[in-house]
Amino acid sequence: MQLVLAPMQGLTELLFRRAYHRAYPEAFGFAISPFLPLTAGNIRDAGKKVDDVWPEVNADSMPVVPQILGRDPEGFVALSLRLNELGYSEVNWNIGCPMRRIAAKHRGSGILPHPEEVRAFLDQVVPQLPLALSVKMRLGYYDENEIDAIIPILNEYPICRVTVHPRIGKQMYGGQPRIEKFAEVYPNFRHPVAYNGDIVTVADYARIRTRFPDIDQIMIGRGALLNPLLPIQIRQSYPADFQSADMPSLSVLPTVQDFILSLVEDILALNISEQAKIRKIKEYWCLLSRPLPYAEEQTRRVLHAADLAEIRNLILLMTK
Ligand SMILES: Cc1cc2nc3c(=O)[nH]c(=O)nc-3n(C[C@H](O)[C@H](O)[C@H](O)COP(=O)(O)O)c2cc1C
Repeated sequence: MQLVLAPMQGLTELLFRRAYHRAYPEAFGFAISPFLPLTAGNIRDAGKKVDDVWPEVNADSMPVVPQILGRDPEGFVALSLRLNELGYSEVNWNIGCPMRRIAAKHRGSGILPHPEEVRAFLDQVVPQLPLALSVKMRLGYYDENEIDAIIPILNEYPICRVTVHPRIGKQMYGGQPRIEKFAEVYPNFRHPVAYNGDIVTVADYARIRTRFPDIDQIMIGRGALLNPLLPIQIRQSYPADFQSADMPSLSVLPTVQDFILSLVEDILALNISEQAKIRKIKEYWCLLSRPLPYAEEQTRRVLHAADLAEIRNLILLMTK
C-alpha cells in the first residue's frame, strides 16, 4: 500500500508539503501537486503556481508529481516537455476538478460528459509525451455513469495510474462518495487504480482496504489536514500493508502542535504581505486546529483576530 497526499489548491502547496515532510518524512509516499493551469504551454507563463514544483525548492520536501489542468493538447505537451526537462518523469492530468467556471470549458470534470474529447486529447498527447501519464478523475460531471464511457477510452492508452474520487462534479465536495459505483467500475480499468475520498479516520482506511483488497494506493486530502497524524496512525495500525520500515512511534515524532507551529513559522517567514500571511494562517487553522484539545469557540478566536501578533500569540497558546 502506498499513501499519497492529494492535490489541494492553496493547501497542499509546497509550503505545507515541506513542513509536513520535515515533521513526518515517512508518512506519505509522494504528493500530487495542486494543478498547474495550462497557459500557452510556457512554464513561466503558468505564473507563480509553477514555482510550486520547481525542483530546487522541492529538494527538501516529499516527492511530487506535477498535475496539469487543461485540455489543449499542444499546451499540455509543451508544459510536460518542460517538466520533463526539469527532471520530472510523470505528469498527472486533472479531469476531476468540479469548479463550475472550469467545468464549463470542458476542463477538469467538465470533460467527462464528452468522451470523444477525452479520446481526441489522448490521441494527440500520448504519442508526444516523453514521460509517464497518470490521471485523476471523478465518476462524472452530471452523472456517475459518465465514467462507463470513459474507462474503455483510458484503457486504450498507456496510463500509469488512475486515481478515482467517486463523486460527480455537480456534488463539489458535498454528499457522500459513491462507493457502490466505484465498486462496480474500478475492476474495468486496465490500469492500476487508486482510491481517493473522505478518508479522515483509521476506520475509514480500514473500510476501503477491506472492501477493495486489491487497491494498492490510497490518496488522502482533507484527512491529512484535519489530523496530520492520520497517515502515521494508519501505518501503525496496519504495518503489514506497508513494505518500508516501521514508522517510528508517535512518542518520538513531532506532535500536531509542533507541526502547526512550524508551518505557521514558515508562513511568517514568507515574503508576502501581512494580510496575505493572516489569510494563509487562517485557511490552515480552520482545518489544522480540529484535533487540538480546545473548544471550537476558543480556536475560532484566531479566525476573528485581525492582527498578526495577536494571531501568533493565540496559536502559541494553543500549541503549547
Ligand atoms: C480546497 C481544495 C482544493 C483542491 N484542489 C485540487 C487540485 O488542484 N487538483 C485536484 O486534482 N484535486 C483538487 N482537490 C480535490 C482533492 O484532491 C481530493 O480529490 C478531494 O478533496 C477528495 O479527497 P479527500 O476527501 O481525501 O479530501 C481539491 C480539494 C479541495 C478541498
